[in-house]
Amino acid sequence: MIVGVPREVKEEESRVALTPSGVGAFVAHGHRVLVEYGAGAASSLPDRLYRDAGATLVDAPSLWRDADLILKVKEPLPSEYALLRPDVVLFTYLHLAANPELARTLQERGVSALAYETLQLDDGSLPLLAPMSEVAGRLAVQVGAWCLQAQNGGRGVLLSGASGVRPAKVVILGAGIAGTNACQVAVGTGAHVSILDIDPAKLRYVHDILGGHVTTVMSNRANIEEEVMAADLVVGAVLIPGALAPRLLPRTLVKAMLPGAAFVDLAIDQGGCAETSRPTTHARPIYVAEHVVHYCVTNMPGIVPHTSTYALTNATLSYALEIADLGLGEAMRRRAALRRACNVLGGRITHPAVAAAVGVEATDPETLL
Ligand SMILES: NC(=O)c1ccc[n+]([C@@H]2O[C@H](COP(=O)([O-])OP(=O)(O)OC[C@H]3O[C@@H](n4cnc5c(N)ncnc54)[C@H](O)[C@@H]3O)[C@@H](O)[C@H]2O)c1
Repeated sequence: MIVGVPREVKEEESRVALTPSGVGAFVAHGHRVLVEYGAGAASSLPDRLYRDAGATLVDAPSLWRDADLILKVKEPLPSEYALLRPDVVLFTYLHLAANPELARTLQERGVSALAYETLQLDDGSLPLLAPMSEVAGRLAVQVGAWCLQAQNGGRGVLLSGASGVRPAKVVILGAGIAGTNACQVAVGTGAHVSILDIDPAKLRYVHDILGGHVTTVMSNRANIEEEVMAADLVVGAVLIPGALAPRLLPRTLVKAMLPGAAFVDLAIDQGGCAETSRPTTHARPIYVAEHVVHYCVTNMPGIVPHTSTYALTNATLSYALEIADLGLGEAMRRRAALRRACNVLGGRITHPAVAAAVGVEATDPETLL
């Protein structure tokens, strides 16, 4: 197969869908890899590394014309629609339920589109979303420490404290993938860390791995209030799958927080878990509301594209290789996870949630193989 890796054109997107070692894996399996000039530059992966790994560097029109399988990070933008060829296989983050126009375009152009975010294992887990939650969780403490600096409006508290000076109090809401990763980094700084969840099994897991270094607290209104009002840094990492984030911090609670405290709301991509949250960008990541410094960037992994590119491609590579080795039809017949990843096939919408958003009946992909 000919595999194509375009440069991402979406604003603030610096990741690339394949690393040079990923190129090497495709080449070792007998495939040809086309990489667009400069595709990895923003992830500190220069063209030279791709060429050394066996890729052919090409411009965008040649890549979209010749590749059978296109690996991307973000959905195609309108400027790329004209490049979509019938029968090309597109494997990327798509989020089609929120973008019916793109869903219809993929249908009309006969693209076979598989979405990272709907690739689901039999146990319900989403292995191509998890790496970005891991990166965002770890990053939350780093950006939270920055928000606490005085020049950003923060209360001027160092997470670790100093000899004879108390460390900061960090409160993490949600002990899932992002929350647990934030917790590990926060504990590593020497901060005093509490983590809350409604699921006792999640709290037990954190307690088991971090023991006495962290306080686990059942999430309910009274406990949230007590923890948040005493916090220097609050990280919002809650998720109710398929729903808007629960509003755990009403404006009155934000008002009652310490002046200059920091709040990093990872759940902003699901609407945010505070009444005062609104989406921000990497260009202007913070604002102050009710004397609390808010950081609500919706694509946090974008500021560490080198690490994020490796984390993402580590997770996607085995699926992409399987598609290239077996062909899409056989790979989907063998792997239920790939059938769930499939959103559009043969001009039909195959994913139930996407079909509902577009207002059509979903077609079972197995009937199209
Ligand atoms: N901003 C970004 O760049 C970025 C990047 C990656 C992930 N995220 C977001 O981070 C959030 C967390 O993702 P995840 O992968 O860790 O999800 P996850 O499902 O692994 O964890 C979510 C946790 O929230 C808990 N929870 C639900 N309601 C709660 C409540 N009322 N109180 C306390 N805990 C509660 C759940 O029990 C679960 O343990 C999601 O909203 C995700 O979209 C944001």
